[in-house]
Amino acid sequence: MDKKKVTEKMSWGKKNRIRKIIQDDGRVVMLALDHGYFLGPTRGMEQPRKALEPLLPHVDSLMLSPGILTSCVEPDFKGGIVLRSSGGSSIISDDLSNEGIILKPLEAVKLNASAMAISIFIGTKYEKQTLMNLAETINEAAKYEMPVLAVTAVGKELEKRDARFLALSSRIAAEFGADIVKTYYCENFEKVTSTCPKPIVVAGGPKLETELDVFELCYNSIQAGAVGVDMGRNIWQNEDPGAMVQAIKAIVHDNYKPKEAEELYKELKNKK
Ligand code: R5P
Repeated sequence: MDKKKVTEKMSWGKKNRIRKIIQDDGRVVMLALDHGYFLGPTRGMEQPRKALEPLLPHVDSLMLSPGILTSCVEPDFKGGIVLRSSGGSSIISDDLSNEGIILKPLEAVKLNASAMAISIFIGTKYEKQTLMNLAETINEAAKYEMPVLAVTAVGKELEKRDARFLALSSRIAAEFGADIVKTYYCENFEKVTSTCPKPIVVAGGPKLETELDVFELCYNSIQAGAVGVDMGRNIWQNEDPGAMVQAIKAIVHDNYKPKEAEELYKELKNKK
C-alpha cells in the first residue's frame, strides 16, 4: 500500500505517529505481545523483558499493554508503540468478548504511544459493546490526533477465521474510522484486503507447525495486500525467536520468498 495514500489526509501529528508504525516502504513488522492482558504469563512471554531482548532490534513497532511497556521496555525505544486499550475478560471467564475500555487517549499520549488498539468481537453477544468501545476511542483519540488500530478478534472461536467473517469485521472497523485494521490471514484473503480501505496487518494466531508455514502466511498476506504483520506467538514461541523475526522482516521489507526466508532462518539459527 502506498504510504502517502494512507496518510495524505491526516494531520501532521497523526501522520507522524502512523509513520512510526508503517515504515517508508509502506510496510511494517509489528511484534504483538499484548497476550497477557487476557492470557496471563503465556508460554514464551513469561518474562517479557528477557523475551524482548533478541527481538527489539528487528521490529518496527510493538503492540503491548501499558503495564508491560512501562516495566519491560526502556524509554529509549525508538520504534512505534501500539497500546492495548480494550480488555476486561480473562481466558477463564465466560466470554472473552465482554470487553470495556482500559486505557484512555490522554494516558496513551502521556506514554508517547503511536496508536491505541481496540478489539471488536463481531457476531458475539457483546458485539455492540465492543463496537462502542471502538467508536468512543476513535472519537476521543481524535482530540489528540492519536491513531486507532482495530483488532478483528475471534476469541476462542478460531474457526471463525474465514474471508466472509474477516471481510465483514475489517470493513466495519474501517467504516468506524479505525486507522489500521489487524485481522487474520485466510483463504481468499484478497476479499478481506480489497474491501477494507484501511491498511491491514495480520496476526499469526496460535503457533503453526513449521517455520515455513509462518513464512508462507507472511508472504501470502503481503502478496494479497496486507501492509505487514502484527505477530506474536509464531515469533516468541519459536525455538529461535531472534532468527524468526529476522526472517519475517526479510519477507516484509526485502521481499524474500518463503523458502528464502526459511534458508535465512536456518542460517541464523545455526550460527549460534
Ligand atoms: C489478540 O487479540 C492479541 O491481541 C494478539 O495481539 C494477536 O492475537 C496477535 O498475536 P498472535 O500472532 O500471537 O496471534
